[in-house]
Amino acid sequence: MSKPIQHVLRIDSSARRDGSISRELGDEIVERLVKANPGLTVVTLDLADGVAHIDADWVGANFTAVDERTSAQRDRLATSDDAIAAVLNADALVLTAPVYNFSIPSVLKAWIDHICRAGKTFRYTDKGPLGLVGDKPVYLAMASGGVEFGGPVDFASTYLRQVFRFIGIEDVRLIGAAGVAGDAATARQSALNTLEQWLPAQTGEAA
Ligand SMILES: Cc1cc2nc3c(=O)[nH]c(=O)nc-3n(C[C@H](O)[C@H](O)[C@H](O)COP(=O)(O)O)c2cc1C
Repeated sequence: MSKPIQHVLRIDSSARRDGSISRELGDEIVERLVKANPGLTVVTLDLADGVAHIDADWVGANFTAVDERTSAQRDRLATSDDAIAAVLNADALVLTAPVYNFSIPSVLKAWIDHICRAGKTFRYTDKGPLGLVGDKPVYLAMASGGVEFGGPVDFASTYLRQVFRFIGIEDVRLIGAAGVAGDAATARQSALNTLEQWLPAQTGEAA
């Protein structure tokens, strides 16, 4: 029996709001999660609204000891602090992402730069970096025009898996609609078939 899910953080990153296949898969995942976990709360972050890039002030603030930060430096890290708090507070994440130019949308990369922080989501040890975010399911809904997920030019899902592993999350569940520029209906159906193993449509029982 898996841990009950009470809080979900949903992150959308397609530039499209209408006609987005990754967002549509995200809707389906959230619907099934809600069915399987009555009372579940969902916080949604739409990165298409824009994400501030980290800059020199941000890096300077991050590398200043916590008790030596000025109030301007604390303010500069507020977006990052909030993003990290949302990730830590969630029992599961639903991340929707298209493949853009063999990788992820730049807004998603900007968000990742905010959540990967030494001392907060990972720390360095003698044996290398150690993730500090406890493991939790990440439902990763992705769509590509032609790229095969896990194939030689998929720098999107493989990168996202690495980022999550780096901060301590191993349980990444890829629901991928690959090749929507060809047979979109088959690509979508294949993604939904994959989702069945974790969140069956009929019973609503979460794996
Ligand atoms: C700017 C841009 C770049 C894209 N680059 C790729 C790519 O490198 N490889 C690929 O397979 N599909 C690529 N696509 C196609 C998208 O991955 C595909 O249309 C996907 O469905 C978009 O996600 P969405 O439906 O959630 O908006 C690109 C689409 C756009 C708009």
